[in-house]
Parts: sequence; C-alpha cells; structure tokens
Amino acid sequence: MSNHFPNQVYPVYWYEDHVRLIDQTHLPNEFAVVEISRSDDMALAIKTMIVRGAPAIGVAAAYGVYLGAREIQTDDRDQFLAKLEQVATQLKATRPTAVNLFWAIDRMLKTARQTVGTVTYLKQALLETAKSINAEDLATCQAIGDHGLDVLPKTPAQLRLLTHCNAGALATAGYGTALGVVRSAWREGRLEKLYADETRPRLQGAKLTTWECVQDGIPVTLITDNMAAHCMKQGLIDAVVVGADRIAANGDAANKIGTYSLAIVAQAHNIPFFVAAPLSTVDFSLRDGSQIPIEERDPVEVYKIGETRICPPGVEFYNPSFDVTPAHLITAIITEFGAVQPGDLVKFHEKQVV
Ligand code: MRU
Repeated sequence: MSNHFPNQVYPVYWYEDHVRLIDQTHLPNEFAVVEISRSDDMALAIKTMIVRGAPAIGVAAAYGVYLGAREIQTDDRDQFLAKLEQVATQLKATRPTAVNLFWAIDRMLKTARQTVGTVTYLKQALLETAKSINAEDLATCQAIGDHGLDVLPKTPAQLRLLTHCNAGALATAGYGTALGVVRSAWREGRLEKLYADETRPRLQGAKLTTWECVQDGIPVTLITDNMAAHCMKQGLIDAVVVGADRIAANGDAANKIGTYSLAIVAQAHNIPFFVAAPLSTVDFSLRDGSQIPIEERDPVEVYKIGETRICPPGVEFYNPSFDVTPAHLITAIITEFGAVQPGDLVKFHEKQVV
C-alpha cells in the first residue's frame, strides 16, 4: 500500500498495529516506507532523520511513547509509570531543538498519569492520545495555511514566495506549515511560484520541498542558499515564509540553519518575512532565543556532499543545525489561530487558552 495520495502526503501514521514512516533520507529518488513497531526503532528513526521536521517528530515521538508502553510487562501502575518515564527520556534524547518533540512526549506522559484504570486501559488511552496529536496537527497545518492568506502581500495578485528547508507535509502530519501557506495560496490562485532554498548541509529544500511541489503541481524554482539576496535584489521575491522548530516567548524563532541570514537579507530589501508554526512550537518557558538549545550534527554533513569529500584533510568543522532569527526581523508569526506580531505572542496565547 502506498500512503501517497494526490495532493496529500502523510509522513507518519498509524497502520493496523504499528507506525508507518516515509523514509525521508531516500527522497526524492526513492519513495520508501519504514515500519516501526518498537520505541527504540522510533528513537533511531528520529535521530537519523528518517522522520524530521518539528511537528512530524512530535507526532512520531507520541507514537514512540505508546510503542514503548506496549512493551512494558507489568500490571502495576506505579511500575508502569516509572518505566514509561524511561521510554520518554530515551525519546527526548534524540534531537534537542524542536520543542514539539518534548511537548508531545509530555502530553503523552500527562495522559498516562491522569488516566484512571488498569495498565491495559492506560495503554489504550496512550494510543488514542497519539492518534489525536496526529489528527490535530493535520488540522492545525490546514488552519495555518489558510490564515497565511490574510497576511501575505495583496500585490502582486500572484506572489513569488521563497522558503527555506522543508516545512511541508513531510515535516508535519500533513499539508505543512510554511508550505501549508504556499499550498493555500496556490489553491486560491494567489501564487505564481515558489523559490526553494536548497538548504545545505542536508538539502531538505532541494530534496523534499521541491519533491512536494512536484507532487502537487506547484511551480517551484530551486536556488542555492547564497542566491537569495540576489533574487531579492532582482525583484523576484514578494515574501519569505519559513517554519520554526522552537519560538521563545519574545518571538525569537529557531529554524533551520540559514534562516537568520535569510531574514536579514529580506529586511535589507524590505520584503516581509513570515514564520508559520503551530502555537505548540512556542516555548513560553524561554524568555528569548538565546535560551533555545541548538543541535550540532555530525561534521560529515559539512565535509561531504553525498559520497564526495569536498575539502582536504586538516580542516576543522562546525555544523550547527539551526539558528535563531530575532523577533524584530519577523513580520508576523502565522499560527492556527491567526497571525500575530512576535512581540504579542504571550497576550495572544492567553486569549486562546481562556
Ligand atoms: O533538521 P530538520 O529537517 O528536522 O529541520 C526542519 C526545519 O528546520 C523546519 O523548518 C521546521 O522543523 C519546521 S517544520 C514544519
């Protein structure tokens, strides 16, 4: 069975008694599905980026908690909860930056602690919660996409948007955040084309964003990361839309490395810069972006492209996977509840929860 329907890609979903993931390390050359039945395997899939993108790893981790719960062999509630904490700790150790991972795992732990009943009943409640997180994220992305239409520039009638990395269906439960905005704009006839940054070192823009656009028939032009300023200067870009992995309470937003420089060049050219993300991506416990943990990945991602080494021996490497765009460079944050000025996030959040 393929899970790729026209216009709809689901990178993580529950199938019979296990999880199916699209193996994103093989796209765009091969569409492969990985079957995950154990929590250990889910942790590895997140770490090795078989599944990636902040909301998608949150959904995957939620299922991972359930898979771990299913493996626990006890009828004693306290013992079960203690072992479940260990499962959660292992899943949380996979990637540090995207807060959705921690948010989803904590929501699963809360379900376990608050559900009254036998261990068997708790396990069932955990599966239902993971399925809810999955379904809610899809609806959230569709809402983000549609709210994006309210804030995108009104002229020209058909926009040329630029995005970085992949904040698409593959990075979420489906539809995408930044690519959700692009999809909604395309559906409404408001998009001329998307420019996609290739996004070194892992090339999520080149490999994944363009793949999604081709599936949906969205016109897409691939550029290398260092071409963005030139394209803006040439008048080719009307707005930038990116995703986020974690947003601090003051609106500073962590996203894929290279996002910060894109925001600076957008401001230099007076081009609006939007961050599209669910409210669960906002970590209200962090005052500002300096407190967001930034993942550093294997240097091999820097010194090799594919199998080819691109520099001589004796060179040192630095491979931060994310950077933080300061709030003052962000025109608006587009959430499932509407768009908000970065500085108004706390007030906006309070209004949504009451
Ligand atoms: O390292 P990745 O591929 O997981 O990074 C993904 C991004 O930076 C995305 O832009 C972000 O997670 C938002 S996804 C809707």
